[in-house]
Amino acid sequence: MSEHVEEIEALLHEGRRFFPSPDFVAQANATKSIYEIADADPEAFWAEQARGLTWEHPFSTALNWTPPNATWFEDGLLNASVNCLDRHVAAGLGDRVAYFWVGEPEGDQRRITYADLLAMVSQAANALTELGVKAGDRVAIYLPMIPEAVAAMLACARIGAPHSVIFGGFSADALANRILDADCRVVITADGGFRRGAPSALKDNVDAALASCPDVHAVLVVRRTEQAVTWVEGRDHWWHNVVERQAMTHTPEAFPAEHPLYVMYTSGTTAKPKGILHTTAGYLTHVSTTHRMVFDLKADRDVVWTAADIGWVTGHSYIVYGPLCNGATSVLYEGVPDAGGKDRWWRIVEEFGVTILYTAPTTIRTLMKWGDGFPDSHDLSSLRLLGSVGEPINPEAWMWYRSVIGGNNCPIVDTWWQTETGGIMVTPLPGVTATKPGAAMRAFPGISVDVVDHEGNSVPDGEGGFLVVNRPWPGMTRGIWGDPERFIETYWSQVPGRYFAGDGAKRDEDGDLWVLGRIDDVMNVSGHRLSTAEVEHALVAHHAVAEAAVVGAADATTGQAIVAFVTVKANVVVAETLVEELRAHVGQLIGPIAKPKTILITPELPKTRSGKIMRRLLRDVAEHRALGDTTTLLDPAVVEMIDELMRSSSSDD
Ligand code: WTA
Repeated sequence: MSEHVEEIEALLHEGRRFFPSPDFVAQANATKSIYEIADADPEAFWAEQARGLTWEHPFSTALNWTPPNATWFEDGLLNASVNCLDRHVAAGLGDRVAYFWVGEPEGDQRRITYADLLAMVSQAANALTELGVKAGDRVAIYLPMIPEAVAAMLACARIGAPHSVIFGGFSADALANRILDADCRVVITADGGFRRGAPSALKDNVDAALASCPDVHAVLVVRRTEQAVTWVEGRDHWWHNVVERQAMTHTPEAFPAEHPLYVMYTSGTTAKPKGILHTTAGYLTHVSTTHRMVFDLKADRDVVWTAADIGWVTGHSYIVYGPLCNGATSVLYEGVPDAGGKDRWWRIVEEFGVTILYTAPTTIRTLMKWGDGFPDSHDLSSLRLLGSVGEPINPEAWMWYRSVIGGNNCPIVDTWWQTETGGIMVTPLPGVTATKPGAAMRAFPGISVDVVDHEGNSVPDGEGGFLVVNRPWPGMTRGIWGDPERFIETYWSQVPGRYFAGDGAKRDEDGDLWVLGRIDDVMNVSGHRLSTAEVEHALVAHHAVAEAAVVGAADATTGQAIVAFVTVKANVVVAETLVEELRAHVGQLIGPIAKPKTILITPELPKTRSGKIMRRLLRDVAEHRALGDTTTLLDPAVVEMIDELMRSSSSDD
């Protein structure tokens, strides 16, 4: 991969941009003037996009804004699932493929048309109604990447029951906390899913979680792996018994535009994850518009593959709601990128003629590490657009993506957004905006962002600052489930009147935006958002641990890696196995994604005179840098000792 480095440095040095090819300009779904039109009257721009949805009752106003609370299209009535399915089938598109589903085991495939999906969703909606689920009730979904996951989400949406999808990699404890926080009464899960070749124990985790969730009265279980599961009579129901005997039609009800669509838990700066709430019409408007313009979608021809998990917001917005609202055809792949060989992804692209690929830099770096031979041995010429999301993309990965995967023909859209924003906020528009390796470029039409200092003043081009959003947008979160104060404090208090994203950014001399990463205690590990406090909390819950400090250290593949500094209680003798035990313990409390890469057991942690742990210095230690200013420390010798310890433990590896 290093052969690209000089080339990239030269390009960046020249400040070179990649301009859209004439072909692309000709076919692009957006034009230059869209920025001016949207800027002149953002509300009118979004209202026009919203009119592309199917409404039972049209809205009369676009935005009602009482900072920090916004409502969009408030007096309109619609049904999210009708917008994703019924209207396409009614328009004669029932035979169009909604999903090419690819299971992890080779040859395991399903082709699901819009008509098939509508029938599945109708049956699932009837089944949920039979199980007593009513509009407003919350339903937890803990499923692998199978078509039933999409059907379950849309069935909830159809009957107005907000879903809370929980990523299958979360542990029983993490699952229980999320079920309790949103007070879910029904859980939809599977006997397992295939990941890394082995069936996962989803049902076991649900059983363990439900020991502390007495209000869950029904569990719907999809049979996927055929492995044996324990069964609670009266509570547990097989999907194939309850859903598949239902009528294939279901009369949907229209709900108000602001009816809750879903809650998605994400990590913030405290140990407790936040339930980010999204409502119906604004969210659908935002994700369908961005999906159409950012990916230059041609719904009748494209095959879009958003290679993300449905358990995260990228899956919600760009595997489920955006593509389905637009009547697009997607690939849904269950497994890891190297299941059945390191060319699995490229075989999928070739087999289904994928035209638009959207994934995270961490995956691009992994694929790049495996070498050019794997993509080179497949015909990837169907690809015409590539997207990146989840973390800053380093120019080297960007160039590899462009040349080796995109054959220097595909524009790259580096899209910045968050669980809270619902959809894409900062991105180039293919065919319209020039691109630069590593830059997210500019705000989407109708969105206004700025880079500001602590007082909220714009910083000059070339200087770093905080990324803020200046005015409300349709997909913005309507709040944190059950915690309105935390919503105001986290997003609306740092820079008054503006949405504070928690990311650092800068504008270059051309005024183009570069997102630099989190400026708070949120880590980004392989595109997964995790809070340092959450991992610390899990570590100190172990009987041997006295104190823990966790930092995210730069990592060439995963973006950041979790490094933990731990002190043990006075009477504890440190066994050789302790580090492994602590990693397993974190895995059990949160999930495997949260296991620290490095745990350093140290006699003390560096603290200020007022007793605060100095994470800044621990980050220096973790990243093997010279230590920063230590003058405010109670005892600078402590951090020097930790630094020494870290160096000697890394050289032992
Ligand atoms: C980071 C994922 C740089 C950022 C959609 C943000 C990015 C967090 C980019 C949200 C990008 C996402 N460039 N950083 N293109 N996209 N991020 O909620 O730090 O899982 O705040 O949403 O990912 O992560 P989340």
